Amino acid sequence: MEQSFGYCNVSSFWWLTMFDKNVAQGVFITFEGGEGAGKSTQVKILANQLEEHGFKVLQTREPGGSLGAEDIRELLVTGAPDRWSASTETLLNFAARDDHLRTTIRPALQSGSVVICDRFMDSTRAYQGSAGGAQKDLIEHLEHSIIGTTVPDLTFIFDIDPDIGLSRTKSRNHGNEDRFENKPESFHQTLRQAFLDIANNEPERCVVIDASKSQSDVASSIWTIIENRLRIK
Ligand code: TMP
Repeated sequence: MEQSFGYCNVSSFWWLTMFDKNVAQGVFITFEGGEGAGKSTQVKILANQLEEHGFKVLQTREPGGSLGAEDIRELLVTGAPDRWSASTETLLNFAARDDHLRTTIRPALQSGSVVICDRFMDSTRAYQGSAGGAQKDLIEHLEHSIIGTTVPDLTFIFDIDPDIGLSRTKSRNHGNEDRFENKPESFHQTLRQAFLDIANNEPERCVVIDASKSQSDVASSIWTIIENRLRIK
């Protein structure tokens, strides 16, 4: 069986794993992509829809999502674009992620919640690894030690032309959290390809969403996938 959503293909293996999933142990969903792709809005829409269907939902984000991780976020997302090396950013993101997993994500999954996280490990792979040049070995080692088996069950990768994404971010007010937006254009082009490569390499986990579509079209593509995954009727 092959299902198609816009320009993403979902293999039969992916659908088999969804039927095996025991919702009582929680489901971990992540939203990923470049700047201005509209992830945060869609996280809220999905969380509301799931709550209306009776699911216990935890909405969270990275870097951040716990007291300690929010402190580290401030270091990462503000200031000059070249403030940190890609290796330092990797270490800071994983320090934040360790706290977030320990105090927020794992307890919620253990209590049977659907955890929806705005960015997670794929952002480190794309921003610090592919676009920033941090060593792949370092990232893989940290993923293994800190994330372990708490890998997302499903990841939506929002794909958009960086010119469109960045023009969207310029028109919204997000304080001084613009450190990554201010990286060079080539950085953002590399990011886009890096996220698409991740989706290609892990088709069982990742679904690419065409983020240039309208907010309601994006929300309905996501809901179609979720309805099937959680067997909602
Ligand atoms: P956002 O909350 O607006 O998406 O901003 C978070 C920023 O942090 C965004 O520019 C991407 C960046 N980031 C990384 O560079 N690496 C990571 O691992 C994560 C989670 C985020």
